Amino acid sequence: MHNNSISFLAHPGGTLQGEARVPGDKSISHRSIMLGSLAEGITRVSGFLDAEDCLATLAAFRAMGVRIERPDDGQVVIHGVGLNGLTPPREPLYLGNSGTSMRLLSGLLSGQAFDTVLTGDASLSRRPMKRVTLPLARMGARIETTAAGTAPLHVHGGVNLDGIHYDMPVASAQVKSCLLLAGLYAQGETQVREPAPTRDHTERMLQGFGYPIRVEGDTISLTGGGSLTATSIDVPSDISSAAFFMVGAAMTEGADVNLHHVGINPTRTGIIHILRLMGATIEISHERSIGGEPVADIRVRGGQLRGIDIPEDQVPLAIDEFPALFIAAASARGTTRLTGAEELRVKESDRIQVMADGLRVLGIQAAPTPDGIVIQGGTLTEGCVDSHGDHRIAMAFAMAALRSQGCIRIQDCANVNTSFPGFVALARHLGLKLDTTGEPA
Ligand code: S3P
Repeated sequence: MHNNSISFLAHPGGTLQGEARVPGDKSISHRSIMLGSLAEGITRVSGFLDAEDCLATLAAFRAMGVRIERPDDGQVVIHGVGLNGLTPPREPLYLGNSGTSMRLLSGLLSGQAFDTVLTGDASLSRRPMKRVTLPLARMGARIETTAAGTAPLHVHGGVNLDGIHYDMPVASAQVKSCLLLAGLYAQGETQVREPAPTRDHTERMLQGFGYPIRVEGDTISLTGGGSLTATSIDVPSDISSAAFFMVGAAMTEGADVNLHHVGINPTRTGIIHILRLMGATIEISHERSIGGEPVADIRVRGGQLRGIDIPEDQVPLAIDEFPALFIAAASARGTTRLTGAEELRVKESDRIQVMADGLRVLGIQAAPTPDGIVIQGGTLTEGCVDSHGDHRIAMAFAMAALRSQGCIRIQDCANVNTSFPGFVALARHLGLKLDTTGEPA
């Protein structure tokens, strides 16, 4: 359990300079455990994100009988049990703060012979699960939620799943992945159509495990009853973690950071596009492909940003980066408008409201709308903001100190460990003046 008394104290006057490698990609790390467990043979993962969210997934598969070793930092060896080799867990699977674990597992577990119960922390227990349980029910799954459509989820096993064609009402990689994982167990073909491109790590990794999958325009299809063959996975650095330093550097005159080995899958690079539209200087070098995922070094140099209207087609491609981008907008010259981003209201916190509240504390005009926000760039002052236990909000406000007049205290920061262990040390190494009270994150 978390000690939510951990807070950050970010002092003004720092800058960002130097080279760094941020931790592994969270989405890819989750999927490596899931597909590695269901594969036949031994899967070796390097660069695994050793953070609470991914460890929740890892613990869930261990609880279902999969032998998973951790020989060294970032190394994971998974002794796959095959698609039908999982065994019933003795207890409910506790998934902490991790929406990805819960939504992807709900699909995968719908195809098992046994029942499971999925639980999470207070934030995860508030997040909408009907977006997965409704289409899964159409496939024949039996899942009980609370009356509000939230966790705990009781997933009943021993049912026969049938493939469906599903037109997703929201652009969500978690929903898409959930249905594709259920589709591995379904009779016939499962087809998912997305209203806009979302991260495609599941599709790429299924192919890496030798599972046939068809991608035609906006529709992804697979047929149940195949098998996965173990492979090796090199997890790139998470662009969503790099994003904090990209924003911090972009908005600070004289800053210059080079972030190594970052995943630049085109379904994740909205942050690069949006920062460039705001006037940032970003250089991409050493582009290469590693295990089916594009990777590069990203160098960002600081300057004065300008406010923009964020193109709606970039929203799903930068969906986790908006807390950081709102800080960029606050320090920019002019107005930034975001629309088409109602999904931000159902993340680890209501990221539109929580960011607006924090920005206002710091003297910035920020007007939330149902599907976005309008931020008037200005002078960040000082004050105490509440991250509401949302890792990305905590890290975003830490960056704000690079341009603030006084200190920024950020409360409830323990959950930074869900995605970015070592954030404080790396931020200090690059030049941010950041202290913690309570245990260091
Ligand atoms: C994720 C998908 C996104 C993202 C989340 C990770 C994934 O969620 O916000 O952090 O790994 O599939 P949605 O599918 O809800 O957009």
